[in-house]
Amino acid sequence: MNYQDLVTQITQWDHDYYVLDQPTVADAEYDLAFRTLLDLEAEHPELITPESPSQRVGAKAIDDYVKIEHRVKMLSLANAFSLDETYAFFEKAAKDLTLSADSLKIYSEPKLDGLAISLHYDHGLLSYAATRGDGLVGEDVTHTIKTIKSVPLKLATVHPPETLEVRGEVFMPKQAFEKLNQQALQNNTKLFVNPRNAAAGTVRQMNPKIAAERDLQFIPYGLGETLGAPAFTQHSEILAFLHSLGFRKNPHCYAFLGSYEAFVSNYELMEQTRALLPMQIDGIVYKVDDLAQQSSLGFIARSPKWAVARKFPAENSVTELLSVDFQVGRTGVLTPVARLAPVFVGGVTVSNATLHNMDEIERLGLQIGDMIEIQRAGDVIPKVVQVVEHGAHRTPIVVPEHCPACNALVKQTEGQAAFRCTADLSCGAQGAERIRHYASRKFMNIANLGTKLIELLYSTGRLKTIADIYSLSLEDISGLEGQGEKSAENVLASITASKHTKLGTFLGALGIHEVGEEGAKSIAQYFKTLDAIMAASLEDLMQVPDIGPVMAKNVVEFFQNAENKAIIAAILAAGVTWPAIADQAIDSLPLAGQTWVLTGTLQQLTRSEAKALLESLGAKVAGSVSKKTSVVVAGVKAGSKLATAQELGIKVMDEAEFLAEFVSAPG
Ligand code: IVH
Repeated sequence: MNYQDLVTQITQWDHDYYVLDQPTVADAEYDLAFRTLLDLEAEHPELITPESPSQRVGAKAIDDYVKIEHRVKMLSLANAFSLDETYAFFEKAAKDLTLSADSLKIYSEPKLDGLAISLHYDHGLLSYAATRGDGLVGEDVTHTIKTIKSVPLKLATVHPPETLEVRGEVFMPKQAFEKLNQQALQNNTKLFVNPRNAAAGTVRQMNPKIAAERDLQFIPYGLGETLGAPAFTQHSEILAFLHSLGFRKNPHCYAFLGSYEAFVSNYELMEQTRALLPMQIDGIVYKVDDLAQQSSLGFIARSPKWAVARKFPAENSVTELLSVDFQVGRTGVLTPVARLAPVFVGGVTVSNATLHNMDEIERLGLQIGDMIEIQRAGDVIPKVVQVVEHGAHRTPIVVPEHCPACNALVKQTEGQAAFRCTADLSCGAQGAERIRHYASRKFMNIANLGTKLIELLYSTGRLKTIADIYSLSLEDISGLEGQGEKSAENVLASITASKHTKLGTFLGALGIHEVGEEGAKSIAQYFKTLDAIMAASLEDLMQVPDIGPVMAKNVVEFFQNAENKAIIAAILAAGVTWPAIADQAIDSLPLAGQTWVLTGTLQQLTRSEAKALLESLGAKVAGSVSKKTSVVVAGVKAGSKLATAQELGIKVMDEAEFLAEFVSAPG
């Protein structure tokens, strides 16, 4: 087969599969043809055409977004939240046209829940793709859009219009979304909240290779700028034309005359169809089909007067609250979870709902046995909206006194709604989550120890705390589901490789409540060694930039816990290390290595000026006096710190001495 025939053949197969959903070739044959194409192109690069299937992922990663102006503004749609609102919209349109509503031809399309994209075809070839942006200016996303197999690189016609701007929705089918989140779970990366976010995140990827691995689809719903396109009279003709050019069709589109009854039955039909569709839809778009009528109706503000989006409501149901369980999260916070009598809502059967915290339970006035209204919007976990009826034998919801997982005492965090288990690294429920956090990419980055494996090892009791990671053996892993000898070796290798880390990373990996990546880095940078951090007092910690009293308290408490200390000791003994944090510039400064303490009231300088001055000379300024203190500067009314310094025989300076030594006299 020659090069052009090969391109045509593969394009046809792609079209059959990705546009018509009708595969016409065996995988092996397809792969062989694709391989042949790539070989030919490698040998004869001069043959490569822009529409070659090989060009979909060919683009380089971008390092910035280029702005693209929409020559025809990209509009949005007005929303209608009820049938009456929908019908009123078209009654108004009919009135403007001096017609009756039931003589208007309406075209209904599923409202695809993704993001609007504009595709520009120049003489039939895809030249660029852009996001909607603010409707006037969008961003160039050609590199990721090209990877979508249902976007033709070349229009399927011998006489393409000179310019054709195709507008439509890019979305992620439900199945692809599930798959993506499964992978995220396995790789310990962030989950996407819903298919729309996943689609938007994928389109905005800098690297087209990542986009290519995710199964996005494109379905057109209209045209933008055109030159030399056929003269259409109906919107539905445009959609048929686009399908003939190689685009997918929106499933379940209907044409009907706009009577109230017709809107009712269309809505009922779509409500039932919704759950069966392979993609998420968030409503129905109703459009006046006649293009002459459309243009005489025109626009208001940002939306046309000839189309409206009838949004599906968030779905609510009433059921009984059977019980409330408390789940222990990674940081030990107990979250109440409502166990419900199973109820069908939003196309699925639901038996759990989130309750957030005890304040929420109080606000709702909720007790076990009550009939409650729950709401499910999109794909999110249902939430409890209100109590509908008190149960006949209702019982109050109480926070357990002991952690349901490890039996340690439960305490309420001061000034917060949250209740927490007082054990940290040793609490079982926190364990798997803590281990996942510890091993995640952001922290210890143990690449081959993913969520699934952690859970398996955890449930077999082989991994109880983060320290156990370092005593895992080949046999512990290789027998488990999905693990062979080779992959077990990879797990061990990635554990070994992860042992060289950084102090800030390690500190963040410990998952101290409220201490995130940045906070951990600041603490590490300030104290430089783990010993210093573990010995730091509340006051010392409060000296660290951006560390407030809550974080400081959590750090102190964490390192006071003997079990935490034992686990850390075991990790260090297993060989986890980091390079010393030495600051070259600071090392050569006059006060390098010294720790100074300021106490009492200074007259000439503010406390922070004095601190900045000392730090600029290389000293560390601490909040409390210890044997390690080099000098104490005592201002007026210096109290216990001065006394401690004298007791320990530490050098003390008053403000005058301090100024004389470090600040040059004026004049
Ligand atoms: S027509 C001028 N049809 O919904 C009207 N939009 O809320 C242009 N959408 O920005 C839009 N499915 O991203 C149209 N079948 C459909 C649609 C659809 C999804 C999106 C589109 C638009 C948004 C407005």
